[in-house]
Amino acid sequence: MKKANNIFLIGFMGCGKSSVAKKLQEMHQMKVVEMDEEIELQEGRSISDIFCQSGETYFRDAESTLLKSLQDVQGRVISCGGGVVLREENIRIMKSCGSVVWLTASAKTILERVHSDESRPILQGRKTIADIQTLMEERYPYYEAAADLSVSTEHKTVAQIAEEIFQQLEKVGN
Ligand code: S3P
Repeated sequence: MKKANNIFLIGFMGCGKSSVAKKLQEMHQMKVVEMDEEIELQEGRSISDIFCQSGETYFRDAESTLLKSLQDVQGRVISCGGGVVLREENIRIMKSCGSVVWLTASAKTILERVHSDESRPILQGRKTIADIQTLMEERYPYYEAAADLSVSTEHKTVAQIAEEIFQQLEKVGN
């Protein structure tokens, strides 16, 4: 692994970042930073309330501020919010202090995972395969620009995904 030995997990909502982060913690004793949880703690309110009461730009600012504060950490798995890639400065920070791993899944799989979850404001009223497909296509270039490598999460256990991440990072010398 390169630079500060951090792994940034990026990808669309419901792609499995949090579960994979927990598995990496278990398998490789890496500490985890859950960005959304950190922001909720700092703000004392849920992500939904932040979006609803203060707006998306406020949330994105909080996300960028948190990411900046992580620039000096070492050996962490950072499970990022799905929209962290939308700001170029965030991509620059992630690339400067770790390996950026993009977890992918199909729109069908994402929908199965998020359909009964009301905690994601971006998906409110947009829970069809077509809606998710459209959002994923909009996000695709951002994930592609940020990622050092990508790992599909389809038909794999969380342990298999975590193992694959390590194997791929070793292969690319990150
Ligand atoms: C968002 C993804 C969410 C959370 C917020 C916005 C997005 O995180 O940060 O609701 O814009 O994709 P998860 O990807 O962990 O669901």
